[in-house]
Amino acid sequence: MSLLQLEDVTAAYGHSEVLHGISLSVDDNAAVGILGANGAGKTTTLRAISGMVKVGGRITFDGRDITGVRPDRVASLGIAHVPEGRGTIGDLSVRDNLRVGAYLRKDRTGIAEDLELCLDLFPNLRQRIGSNASALSGGEQQMLAISRAIMAKPRLILLDEASLGLAPSTAQNVYRAIRRLREEQGVAMVVVEQNAMLAFSVVDSAIVLETGAVSLAGSRDELAGMDEVRRAYLGG
Ligand SMILES: Nc1ncnc2c1ncn2[C@@H]1O[C@H](COP(=O)(O)OP(=O)(O)O)[C@@H](O)[C@H]1O
Ligand SMILES: [Mg+2]
Repeated sequence: MSLLQLEDVTAAYGHSEVLHGISLSVDDNAAVGILGANGAGKTTTLRAISGMVKVGGRITFDGRDITGVRPDRVASLGIAHVPEGRGTIGDLSVRDNLRVGAYLRKDRTGIAEDLELCLDLFPNLRQRIGSNASALSGGEQQMLAISRAIMAKPRLILLDEASLGLAPSTAQNVYRAIRRLREEQGVAMVVVEQNAMLAFSVVDSAIVLETGAVSLAGSRDELAGMDEVRRAYLGG
């Protein structure tokens, strides 16, 4: 059984349906990509999983039906969402943002170990540990947002366009850490990206969304070999 399963999921903002029946499954320790142009419904798919939009169909996590379950409850079940635009708390220090990430946990030793893991994955954050999040560069804020998710010790991380607005070398750094996180910690991931090259550096399989529906699905290698994917998302 998959860790996360979406079956024919619809989602709407008010009366306007923007997802029209998405199916997707993520196994334990696997990473699945969601590619697609601006407005295709990538963010909404993550919001549907997190309980932040009105959904239809069925979403299960770890054998439990989480369709329509509230965001705080979804988080407590082990799903951490790193939103588009990062959502760190600007007037808190890096250290305090990380503490906020661990607020549901009681295992002090585990928390200390995961703090060390974050600072090892993202050495920039170690140097900025006492700085306010608002003083960080865009890349460092993205590193902090991912680290805050790690501090919750999730089984599944939802990553929304982690490369957005970053210089290419910074985006590479961020994705190198995401890859390590997956390989060394075995965290499952849903990786939303417009940059397919970066997504393919982490995921095993992916879906392509077009106007709220799945237009293509397959393994990374299958997709990377398809002409329409190469033209639209791989610059060739
Ligand atoms: N808060 C919102 N209210 C109404 N419509 C929205 C809202 N957020 C997104 N949409 C619409 O939903 C569709 C999917 O958007 P989104 O999931 O953000 O796409 P993507 O992340 O792929 O760029 C778009 O047509 C967008 O205009
Ligand atoms: Mg988006």
